[in-house]
Amino acid sequence: MEQGQAGAAAVDQVGRGADFLQLDPASAPAHGLAGWLTAAVRDAITDGRLPAGARLPATRVLAGQLGVSRGVVVEAYQRLTDEGLLSGRRGGGTGVLATSPRPAAVRAETAPVRVPIDLRPGLPDLSAFPRQAWLRAERAALARTPDHALGYGDPRGTLELRAALATWLGRSRGVRADPTEIVVVNGVAQGLALIAQVLARRGVTTVGYEDPGSRGTRDQLERWGLTLEPVPVDDRGLDVDALTATGVGPVFVTPAHQYPTGGVLAPERRRALLEWARAADGRLVIEDDYDAEHRYDRAPVAALAAVAPEHVVHVGSVSKTLAPALRLGWVVAPRDVREELVARKQWSDITTPALGQLALAELITSGGFERHLRKVRARQRDRRDALLDAVRLHLPGTRVHGVAAGLHLLVGLPDGADDAAVAERALAAGVAVQPLSHHRLRPGPPGLVLGYAATTPDRLREGVRLLADAM
Ligand SMILES: Cc1ncc(COP(=O)(O)O)c(C=O)c1O
Repeated sequence: MEQGQAGAAAVDQVGRGADFLQLDPASAPAHGLAGWLTAAVRDAITDGRLPAGARLPATRVLAGQLGVSRGVVVEAYQRLTDEGLLSGRRGGGTGVLATSPRPAAVRAETAPVRVPIDLRPGLPDLSAFPRQAWLRAERAALARTPDHALGYGDPRGTLELRAALATWLGRSRGVRADPTEIVVVNGVAQGLALIAQVLARRGVTTVGYEDPGSRGTRDQLERWGLTLEPVPVDDRGLDVDALTATGVGPVFVTPAHQYPTGGVLAPERRRALLEWARAADGRLVIEDDYDAEHRYDRAPVAALAAVAPEHVVHVGSVSKTLAPALRLGWVVAPRDVREELVARKQWSDITTPALGQLALAELITSGGFERHLRKVRARQRDRRDALLDAVRLHLPGTRVHGVAAGLHLLVGLPDGADDAAVAERALAAGVAVQPLSHHRLRPGPPGLVLGYAATTPDRLREGVRLLADAM
């Protein structure tokens, strides 16, 4: 209620006009108007002029006030939606979804903003980052690193990390790769960007993409010029018959824990997908090994690259096991793809920063990484159970999907429900959730994606209670 009133006040405040932007339309640049406006709105969110829950003026209204075309405002809102700062829905308004982190000095000068309970997926529990173990790993790695290793390194990454990953991926994911066959990248995001470039160079314009599938990855691939052909996903993962019918060559999949539905690719579908890949030239499975390490009630499923390495490009990172801030990931690819990928990596940034790689290698080889995973797995299981219990109590009759693994689950909504509208009402009530429609390429059944890794059981229960009230 309190949050709703704060939101309503913000609506009034913002609805009056573009004052919150503190922009002088006369200072608008001749080119790059959308970037100019995006930066201004982002600043307003960052320094608290626009609190979470505030509603932005309609695109037509703001365009009129600033004297720019409506397309400029639409583009700016879209960019900020992609950044996770705004939420928009067709026919409805656009609201501030999150306040972005601010430097402490700025934070201290502005009135505190009540942060809603944030159940949006995408982050591990950052408070669980093993700071002491990481510090020890950094010290040990630095003490052992000779001066010459501080120069420009191998574009594939340090040998230390590639060797540690070769052992780790073999043991935990069944991927048999020599250190020379692994490329260290700045997270899955860079891995996918490089793969998109390799595909484009091969003349690929259209790729298969899970529907629903990660909105962030989809936006990224589209910005690299790929057209995504939607391939439906159900509780057993990607529909391989539908994939075959599309006629595409490469396909991007999240087989270990489908994002966002949470399903694991069923054994018969795994076989069918690999048969599909083997059946014709130009077919390639790009395996985003998302959330593979977080399993609770079932034995781990080996990566697809463990079974058919010549047809699979395997991509992973420590963003969901340690922290996205490390920007450390890896690609294991068939030789021809790998060679092109390494060239592109070199042309992009020469190589991934070495010190973080060396610390991660130390953390893995010392056993600290595995100890950390065991610790967070137990905590995450408790949180998942708390969330499940709360959903059963407060949202009886809803179907829950994807509970066996990962850091989020999916709550199905009744047919015809508008999940974006539910998410907006929930936000006004103080709990941020993600509508499944955000990740859809084509319309489909509605749902809410709820992340639980970063929220304590009490806050999870409170969040679901607020969500139920909003529904
Ligand atoms: C589907 C998917 N894969 C991978 C990642 C991790 O990306 P990165 O390793 O670049 O942090 C994300 C991030 O949220 C994601 O949504």
